[in-house]
This record gives sequence, structure tokens and C-alpha cells, in this order.
Amino acid sequence: MAYRPHQHAPDDLVLLSDITEDAVMSALKAHYDHDEIYTYIGEVLISVNPFKQIKPLYLPTTLQRYRGRLLYENAPHVYALADISVRNMVADRENHCVIISGESGAGKTEASKKIMEYIAAVSSKAADVEKVKQQILESNPLLEAFGNAKTVRNNNSSRFGKYFEIQFSYGGDPVGGKITQYLLEKSRIVSRQDTERSFHIFYQLLAGSSAQEQKELQLYGPEHYAYLSQSNVYRADGIDDRADFAETKTAMTVCGISSAEQKDIMHLLAGILHLGNMSFASEEAKGQDDKAVVDSKEILAIAAQMLGVTGDKLAHALTHRSIKGGSTEVIKSTLGKEQALYSRDSLAKAVYSRLFQWIVERINTTMHTEKPAFVIGVLDIYGFEIFQTNGFEQLCINFVNEKLQQIFIELTLKKEQEEYVKEGIAWTRIDYYDNRPCCELIERNGGILSLLDEECLFPKGTDESFHTKLFKQVTDTTHLTKGAGSIFVIKHFAGVVEYDTKGFLDKNKDTLFSDLVELMMASSLKLGKEIFAADAERMKDSKKRPVTAGTQFKTQVAALMDALRACVPHYIRCIKPNERKVGGYFDDEMVRNQVRYLGLVENVRVRRAGFAFRMVYGHFLHRYKMLTEETWPKWSGDEKSGCEKILQHLKIAKDEYQFGKTKIFIKSPQTVFKLEEMREAKLVAIVSKIQRFYRAFVARKWYLLIRASMQDIFSGQKERRKFSINRKYYGDYGNFKHAPFVVDTMHKNDDSKILFADNCNKINKRYKSQRRSIVVTDKAIYNLSLKTPAKGKIARRIPHEMVTGVSLSELSDNFIIIHATDYDYLLENNRKSELVVCLKEHYRKTNKDLAVKFSNNITYKAKEKDVRTITFTKVEGTPRAIFAGKGKTSTVTVGSDLPKDAQPKSTYVPVEKRSGYRGPAGGAASSSSGYGQAGTPSWAKK
Ligand SMILES: Nc1ncnc2c1ncn2[C@@H]1O[C@H](COP(=O)(O)OP(=O)(O)O)[C@@H](O)[C@H]1O
Ligand SMILES: [Mg+2]
Repeated sequence: MAYRPHQHAPDDLVLLSDITEDAVMSALKAHYDHDEIYTYIGEVLISVNPFKQIKPLYLPTTLQRYRGRLLYENAPHVYALADISVRNMVADRENHCVIISGESGAGKTEASKKIMEYIAAVSSKAADVEKVKQQILESNPLLEAFGNAKTVRNNNSSRFGKYFEIQFSYGGDPVGGKITQYLLEKSRIVSRQDTERSFHIFYQLLAGSSAQEQKELQLYGPEHYAYLSQSNVYRADGIDDRADFAETKTAMTVCGISSAEQKDIMHLLAGILHLGNMSFASEEAKGQDDKAVVDSKEILAIAAQMLGVTGDKLAHALTHRSIKGGSTEVIKSTLGKEQALYSRDSLAKAVYSRLFQWIVERINTTMHTEKPAFVIGVLDIYGFEIFQTNGFEQLCINFVNEKLQQIFIELTLKKEQEEYVKEGIAWTRIDYYDNRPCCELIERNGGILSLLDEECLFPKGTDESFHTKLFKQVTDTTHLTKGAGSIFVIKHFAGVVEYDTKGFLDKNKDTLFSDLVELMMASSLKLGKEIFAADAERMKDSKKRPVTAGTQFKTQVAALMDALRACVPHYIRCIKPNERKVGGYFDDEMVRNQVRYLGLVENVRVRRAGFAFRMVYGHFLHRYKMLTEETWPKWSGDEKSGCEKILQHLKIAKDEYQFGKTKIFIKSPQTVFKLEEMREAKLVAIVSKIQRFYRAFVARKWYLLIRASMQDIFSGQKERRKFSINRKYYGDYGNFKHAPFVVDTMHKNDDSKILFADNCNKINKRYKSQRRSIVVTDKAIYNLSLKTPAKGKIARRIPHEMVTGVSLSELSDNFIIIHATDYDYLLENNRKSELVVCLKEHYRKTNKDLAVKFSNNITYKAKEKDVRTITFTKVEGTPRAIFAGKGKTSTVTVGSDLPKDAQPKSTYVPVEKRSGYRGPAGGAASSSSGYGQAGTPSWAKK
């Protein structure tokens, strides 16, 4: 996190020279003005929504730069945070979670998508992993189509909370996923603020469906539908409904929704739209104010058809209510016009919310893995909401944010301080704002939510009676105060919010009338029945009271908190720089307000006053033991003194660290960076040493194999040359693998590997010796004529299938004949034994035996029908073999070298010591025959 050269402000606010709100503000602004939207506070990532595309920020090359890097090596980025999570998850075998917070439009959902993109990009490309990744990525557009909407604050606002657990294998590859959704804002189906839209899917369906679908579902423009036309906006900037519909359909398929199910989904959506167009007239009725009757038979018929029910049944369900009297008795009453409208809206909301839940479950079924090794959870949930009028939904949303703040405090600030105390570390206490009382005010027994539940149980309970009760029972007046009329006021950590109790009871009860459930259970749409099956099941048990929305949410939040607490947490604090959703405008007051309620200054102070880093001794020792020779590779003393040794050796200033009971604490991040940097440098050295060892090991194994095999083949058969048996074996003598002509030839012929290559003398039909190169690959034996490394000719290519054997003399000469099915190949090479072993070993792998014959009288074919003989004779005092030939016969005379049963010396020169080996082995390996064969490739000689 050192200052990078072009920096306008530190990447980590912990490095600010003074820690004030102004300093934090100006650092954020300086970054923002330079298109640097990310900043750290320690490991907390702050992200300021740029409201414009900053191209270089998300290029694939940028992404790659963050792979396996340390936090401070690159500019702050959400990729860095994703990288740490995945890496540490695998290394430390722990689950991680990323908690993304911020107000609506601050960039939470975008950040969560970047994390998923990063994980997808860096993990395995294996087919099964790719499939899961595609499902994970495609679940985003699918959930956004059904769960997002244009609001005043954000054109693509998530109207539900989402905890996405990406499931991983032990190796760190995504193998599945699980989504938990919270509080879909279903009221949006029937009403919303002016200039906002309903869920994207409705506009997508109307804009993107085919003519055939439009006819079947009776679809027209959005202005045709009361549920859509009431807020008077149909388009959203930056959103292409038509194109998105196609994407939604693809996503549905990828996420395991069959085409039949997709068809049912479209019917249900159309059903909701047509339902919204239904209206009721009121008739006078005996004993009640009015009696609702369906206005338009035509609309009724269409709506019923879409929902897969009959018009009569739909009309009846919307205008009647059954109430269970006793255990079996059911009392039916007729509804008035207002009640019928209420019923209609209930049905629309219920169908949609259950459909949404069904989609989430289906995605989970498709991508869920039973026993993942690890998970990384990503929480993207709406931030604090403070509106003109705040209702039950806002209370729930603000409650979960209050809880998230609580665990943020718990996990970062409080835990930090408590740990110092526990470890016996000296440090000055920092006061922080603890929001526990506010959480308790809402969630505890006798708190707001439980009082609301109580009131819902009273037959006479109303919103007003709830309001009165609240102030009778709750004593915490610091956080709860009375407002005008039906208002109560909560002092949240993020600000003071006025809630209007109007509608609280109704929303909390969230009653779904049995008539509506029964109606849907009679639907001819398979999906229509399926999404209400659980409700029908529950209603069978009349004693079971339905769980209220508030309690259900409280339970969900508690489960979420447990899940988060079981993970190593990471935080992204998203900041919205302006209300106008435009780039380049940093609204000072607006940002300051968020800096304040996100507690950023406090966060920096705690990081700085305390220690930037701590680690248990064992881990620290393990991580840094390579930094001194005393602790590397093994430290035999106790862990704490091992850590001490390391720090002393590195001459780290004494006031930079403290020793706790179980952990070491390091004050400044710079010291940690220094340790990390030294560690990285050392690791590189260690890794290359290990690689060298490994190469040496492989080379030695090869050496032993060749030597043993050579003894098997040659011992007692042929007189050997000193050079031949006491030397190293490289295979490629002269770096043929780098000669462009050879590379090209091999490529064209599909050879993949050189097994042996050397220069040789090829004896032609007229007994003339020609400078050639023999290259043995995995596929064939080549006789090459090379002018330069890049230029040459293939004189002959003998595929291994055509090789029938080799012949050599019993004397110490270097001649060898390779027999092939068509004709043979006579050559002289002083590494012919290695050549033979190499062929023999290669053929052995393919279950073919290489016949090796030793004789001083060899018959061979110079051409297909041209049979010749070659005779070998020993003449002492002839150090070099002499070759002469005429007609069909030729002779070789040679003196003695070593006896036939000579054994090699057991010296082995490790590969490492062959310093700078690049080219051919020269010197001792030079020619032994009168033909002046040399170790240098033919192309290297003019
Ligand atoms: N990193 C980013 N780069 C560019 N634009 C962004 C970025 N983050 C957010 N935005 C813009 O802001 C809008 C709102 O962001 P979103 O993530 O949906 O907010 P939230 O989920 O917090 O409500 C996005 O639709 C996009 O236009
Ligand atoms: Mg969002």
C-alpha cells in the first residue's frame, strides 16, 4: 500500500496523516476525480459509484493483474478482494463472505457481479466447472429480470435482498451455488411511486415476446395495463427491455427452467397484468354495505384463462371469503367492492412472490452441490432507506442494516479491541458507537416486532392500538420517540427515521385467503398449482397459525447473521456520490453523510491506533520462516521465540511489534508489507531451487535407465569406446529442438518430441560419407540435411513402424545400420549406443521390440533391391575406424578400445553442474572416425 507514483491520495486511508472526516472526504474525492473509485481502509474496500464506464478498470488484462497478488501490490480493487477470498479460502480451508452495504444505487449489485466475474475468470476451464460458472453468472440477469425495477434512486434497483453462496471444491473451483432471497418488495406489483416502474420482466415480456406469444397471452403496450400505467413511466434509461427479454429466456434455460415451465411463467405474468385490469361494481346487499360483482366478463375471462382457471371460479374467489368457524365448519361471506379489489391485489402479489421464490429454488436445484468444500457468500442487500413516509418494509430493511452494522462493529472494531485485552497487549481504548440497543429495540422479546405480532393476534388490534401500545411498553426513549399522529421515530445509527404505523398490521399478517389458494390449486397450469402447494399444505392444519412477515424476516435475518459469523468476513462499503445518477459529480454533503453513518473515520482510527496486523505464532512462523537461516527450513524451539528470531534478524524496530499470549501484533502496515515482500522474493528463490532439484532428479533417473539398458544390450556383444560408456546422456545433442527447420518439420509431421538428435555421417550408395543429422522423434527417424538451423532438406523420414531392427559390429567402431522395411540406413555416429537404447526404450513403451544384432559381417539393403555386405576387421594400431567400399562390398578396419565386458564408472554429473549447457557437447565427444565427425551440428559449420 505504498504510495504509487501518480497518487493523489493514499490507497489506504490508514496512511492518512491526520484522521479526520475532512481528510477522509478529500482523499475519496481526489480518487474519484481521477476515476479511482476504490479505496481501502485496511482490508475494507470503499467503492464510490462512478455512474459511468471506466474502461480500463474491468479489462481482462486488469483482472489478470490481480491474480495471486498481495493487496498492496496493485491499486485497490474489488478484484483484489475477490482474489484474497478465494486464495485464503483454499490456503486456510475456511469459508469467506463479502458483505456489501450502501444505499440504493451505490453500486452494491455491480460489485457483487464483479466478484462473480472474477471467480469465473480465474477458475478452471474444465467443462463441468464451466457449466456451473455459466449458471452462476446467468442467475444474475434472471433474478434481475424478476427482482429488479427502475426506482427514483436506481434504474436497475434490486427489490430483494440476496445472499449468494458460491460453493467451491477443495481446489478452489466453483462447483455450485445457493441463493437465499430476502423480502421481495411485492407491493410494487400493484402500486409504486410516480416515475418508478414495476419489475423489469413485465416490460420485457411486452417488448420482447413474439407475435405468436402476444396473441396467445393477449399482450398489448404497457399503457394497456392498470398495474403498469398507474405510475406512468414505461422506459428506463440504459435498459433495453427487448434485448433483455431474450437474455432472460436464455438465462431461464441455463438455470434449468424447461420450455413448458417458461410458458407457464409467461401465462402467470400475463395473468397478473389482466387481473390488474379487473374492476368491480357494487350492488346493494342485504345486511351489508355492498356486494362486489365483476364489471367486465371479458377481462374476467382473459385473466382466468391466463391463470388456468375458470371465470366463475376466479370471480367467486375474488368476491367471497371463507372463514373457518369451528374445526370443520366454514363460514362464507360475500365481499364488498373495496374488499374484492383487495383480494384481487392479494392474488396478484401472491402469484408473483411465489413465482419469484419458485425461480430462486429452481436455480438452487440446478446449481446446488450437496457437500461443497468451501463457500464464499456474497451479501447484496438494500441499504438504509429514509423516505418521506416509511412503512413496515423500511423498518425491516433498516433493521437488517442495523444488524449488519452490528456485526461489522462486532467483527472489526469491537473484536479488535477485545482481542488486545485478551492477548494482554497494551493499547489505548477507542470509543465506538455501539448500535446494540437499537437492534434490541426492534428484535427482542417485547420489542417492536414482537409487540406488532401480539397486536396482530388481537381480533380488535389496529394500527392505532399498536402505536399506543408501543409507547406504553417500550422504555428505551433514547432510540424510540413518539411522532405526530401515527408516527413513531427510531434513532438508527445511520440517521433518524420516522415510521408511519399505517398498514403495519396488515403487512405483518400478510394473510393469504384460503379461497385464493384453493383457486390456484385448481389451476390447469402445472406451475400455478406448484407455487401454491406449500400454502395449501399449511392451510390443512387449521391450528397452525401462519407466521407473520415480521417474525419470518427476523428468523431469516438471524440465520443470515449466523451464516456470516461462520465466515471470514470482507466488507465493501458502497458510496453513492450524487442523487442525479450522473458521472463526475461528487456531492460533498451527500458523501459526507454516508462517510458518517458508515463510520469510516472511526474505522480508520481503530485500524491506526491499534495494530494493522496480527497472527498466531504458528502461522507467522510458518509464513516467514524462510526469512532467516535460523528458522529455515525448520525451527526446533517454541513458536514464539521463532517469531522473535525472525523479527530480530530483520532488525524490525522494537516498537513496531508486541507479543501477545498467542499472537504476534504488528503496528504499521508498512512493516507487514516489508515482511510480505521479502517473503515473496525468498519464495521465488525457493521455488526455482525446487524446480532445479526436480529436473536433476528426472535427469538422473534417465541417466540410470540408459546406462542400465546400455549394459544389457551391449555388454559381451561389442567392444566399447571409453567415451561411449562413461558419459552423460542428453538426447538432443546440438539443441535441434531450437532449430527452426526442425521445429517446422516436426510440426508438419505431427511429431511432438525429440528423443535423440545428433550429427552423423551417412554413407551413401557410392560409399561416400555425407554430413547429415539424425533426429529421432516420438514418431519417426529423420535423416536431415541442414544448411542453417532454418534451412534444410528432409533426406529421409522413416516412421517407427517401418523400423525392423539395427545392426552393429562386435568391434569398437561407430557404425550402425538401421533396418527398415524398404531399405536400410547406414551411418556413423559416436553416440550410437545411446541411439540404440533410445529406440529400444521408445519401442518398449509401444510394445514393440527392437531387434539388435551384433556381427562383423552385416548384410543390408542400400536400396530396395540393392543388397550389400559390410565386413569389420580388427587391426591393432588403428585408432580410428577406416572405411572403404567398392561394388557390393565394403570394409571397416578398427583397433581395440575397451573389452566387450567393460563396465561404466559410476560417476554421475548432476544436471545442475552442467552450467550454461546450450549447444552440442563438444570436446571429448568429437569424432572417433576418419570421417571427422564432430559434435557441432552440420549447420553450425561452414
Ligand atoms: N463500478 C461501476 N462502474 C460503472 N457504473 C456503475 C458501477 N457501479 C454501479 N454503477 C452504475 O450505478 C447503477 C446502480 O448500481 P447498483 O449496483 O445497481 O446499485 P445498488 O445495487 O447499490 O442499488 C448501475 O446500474 C450502474 O449504472
Ligand atoms: Mg442492487
